[in-house]
Amino acid sequence: MAATSENAEREKVVSKLPPWLRQELKVRAAELRVDIQDAVEAGIARWLDADVSTSQEVATSGAESFSTWLPVGMYDDLKTACADRSVSYVQGLAQAASLWLAEHPSPRAQAHRVPRRKVVGNQKGGVGKTAISAGLGAAYAEAGERVLIVDYDPQGHLSNQLGVKQIVAGEESLAKHMAGEAKGDIGDLIVALTGERFGGRLHVLPACADGFLLDVKLSQVRAREAALERALAPVEDDYDVIIVDCPPSLGLSMDAGLHYGRRRDGEPERSSGVLIPVQAEDSSADAFGMLMDQIADLQDDLQILINHLGIVVNLYDSRRGYIATSSLANWRSLGDPPVVAVVPDLKEQREAVRQHLPLLEYAPHCDQANVLRELARELA
Ligand SMILES: Nc1ncnc2c1ncn2[C@@H]1O[C@H](COP(=O)(O)OP(=O)(O)OP(=O)(O)O)[C@@H](O)[C@H]1O
Ligand SMILES: [Mg+2]
Repeated sequence: MAATSENAEREKVVSKLPPWLRQELKVRAAELRVDIQDAVEAGIARWLDADVSTSQEVATSGAESFSTWLPVGMYDDLKTACADRSVSYVQGLAQAASLWLAEHPSPRAQAHRVPRRKVVGNQKGGVGKTAISAGLGAAYAEAGERVLIVDYDPQGHLSNQLGVKQIVAGEESLAKHMAGEAKGDIGDLIVALTGERFGGRLHVLPACADGFLLDVKLSQVRAREAALERALAPVEDDYDVIIVDCPPSLGLSMDAGLHYGRRRDGEPERSSGVLIPVQAEDSSADAFGMLMDQIADLQDDLQILINHLGIVVNLYDSRRGYIATSSLANWRSLGDPPVVAVVPDLKEQREAVRQHLPLLEYAPHCDQANVLRELARELA
């Protein structure tokens, strides 16, 4: 712990931070014209003072060496506080850095509020991605938010379920916009749902069967992981929340979907990220592991952070006995990502699909509608 002459009151501290956090610190410090060491010092001072119960766990996987200069003794104070709070030193430093970032938002983010982006994904079919996307979107719109649900699955189930016509293959589509082949305005593809309780705020970007070729198209596209972000950028200002109903696959289009949910610079933690519907049965666990691996690889490859918004255990019926109850307990025991909702298996959902209506319009007072409203509040 040597002190240099220009840093007479400081000592060099070598610890670790995940690369995404190091990068955010570097960018934010530059934006605000602050020295990184001063930012870290201010973050630690705030963290040492902060109420322990409000500290949020920060993802630190892949943490790499990080060194800075701190006032003499500060790092020892941090280590003592880490021990008191039963967190690792790396976690303590990461929480301090995150606190500073949260309290010093990017001037760009302040000038330009981005929509919260909820990417609903799981390559396992039939677990309720579409039902949760539609229900969540309806719950946000009902609560006064401007919502776009992107039917990102060429099967077009979301479009069908909500009574929206799919785009005819050959016409301009989301896939064409992502591939850079479209000439028109992506906003022209969007359809507003008419249900009174949504006040014209619930919009859908319909699917098109050409999405089945999206992975092939994307293989030719530059910076293909950012293709969905580039395609949707022109309409982002029109929405508070954008929900992406992903297809049951793990290909390049899924990478672009996951990338769309990455935490952007200056964005609060957990505003955006991936929400994973699962079922309370054993085969869901294998699919979940593969998706988690894909997210981890993408984060490492692109040096981005994809927050986990949580797991929704869908189609739950405890009458199915031990498999259902023990699977639910297993999902809960994961802890991170947390189980944010348990949605019962209810006839109203299937009836709403048959009627091509949002569940919250077809059966606004049913249990499932209420669970989805709670989920929207929980995710914020
Ligand atoms: N909680 C629920 N209660 C009753 N039925 C449900 C519930 N959730 C989903 N369903 C029904 O189960 C079927 C599959 O759900 P959904 O289409 O949402 O799954 P998915 O994961 O999107 O499937 P895919 O992988 O094919 O896209 C649909 O008929 C849907 O209406
Ligand atoms: Mg679906």
